[in-house]
Amino acid sequence: MTLLKLDIYAVRNILKETIIPDAAINFIYGENASGKSAIIEAIFILGRAKSFRSTTIKSVINFAETHLIVSAQTQQANGGTLHLGIQLDSKSFCCRINQQTTQKRSDLAYALPLQIIHPKSYELLDAGPQLRREFLDWGVFNDDEKFLPAWRNFKTALSQRNALLKTKRPEHINVWDKELVYYGTIVNTYRQLYLQKFKPVFVDIINQFLDINNVEIKLISGWDTAMDFQQVLIENLDKDLRYGFTHNGPHRADFQLLVDNRLAKDFVSRGQLKLLVLSLKLAQVKLLANERSNMGCFLLDDFAAELDVINRAKLLYYLAEMKCQVFITATELSDFGDLTHIKNYKMFHVEHGNIKQM
Ligand SMILES: Nc1ncnc2c1ncn2[C@@H]1O[C@H](COP(=O)(O)OP(=O)(O)OP(=O)(O)O)[C@@H](O)[C@H]1O
Ligand SMILES: [Mg+2]
Repeated sequence: MTLLKLDIYAVRNILKETIIPDAAINFIYGENASGKSAIIEAIFILGRAKSFRSTTIKSVINFAETHLIVSAQTQQANGGTLHLGIQLDSKSFCCRINQQTTQKRSDLAYALPLQIIHPKSYELLDAGPQLRREFLDWGVFNDDEKFLPAWRNFKTALSQRNALLKTKRPEHINVWDKELVYYGTIVNTYRQLYLQKFKPVFVDIINQFLDINNVEIKLISGWDTAMDFQQVLIENLDKDLRYGFTHNGPHRADFQLLVDNRLAKDFVSRGQLKLLVLSLKLAQVKLLANERSNMGCFLLDDFAAELDVINRAKLLYYLAEMKCQVFITATELSDFGDLTHIKNYKMFHVEHGNIKQM
């Protein structure tokens, strides 16, 4: 998947701009507050129907407008073209894929797989489990289309069970337990299978960026898997009833990154931690490219803020080799380093929300 043409309307300080990106690397530079992150945000919104930096879309919509629109002409892995578009106002959103309207975020996500690195991404290994669960599930979701329906069925069973727990009358809880166990086990299995495929790709990337060996990535399923999930639910029913929610299950899943059997986040340096997160994200994209030859876009906001010169050069080289479409921002042109070895790229300059190809 490649963006051939991108139209942005009313995203932050960008009023109306069109860009024709390169199929390989797109460098975007400009002063602070010029609108670089706004471009990255626009592409992200097109693939995920939400912002990566604001919880409410209202703050993303240009102050003078009531809605924003991002649309793109894309080339799919099979050679065909797709027209994608999304319109959001503060309350609702509407997507169009080749003139067909859809309300499903997942349709967009499949059409435009995106991975992003921005300064907050580096919290992935430090933050609570939700971020890691989302990271993991993005990979599983793109790896196997059967994951999403299983996850949706699991979530339905979970909310029904939780609603019943709140009534403190668990007579019919068995019905939901059965569903929970059935779909929960499927969800957990998909995650396990994904991590098995993910690990060698991840280790290979780590070897290029870090001098760390013996890395292990371990799935935390969300319940004690030494026991049957059904049994865990039965044994925890009193506790679940007391608090009015289900304590165990794949909705509490997480993963741990271990180096020499110790939790990486507890002892690696800040720089190493960033490179580990970077490697995790790159590995997801690489795996997707290997499996579906349908790589989406890799978005890198604030390139220079987080990586030293050597690692920036390595990363650029890696991305150029990976043959995916990349959008990278920095405040200075020189932050991108020596570009002589990069064959295909375009350079864009942003000023007061206006984008110019250089
Ligand atoms: N809803 C909005 N409407 C209009 N302008 C906005 C809105 N939200 C933010 N802005 C402004 O848009 C401009 C661009 O913001 P953006 O974060 O894209 O800048 P940037 O080029 O990434 O800057 P930096 O180098 O500091 O990261 C800023 O001046 C910001 O104040
Ligand atoms: Mg920015």
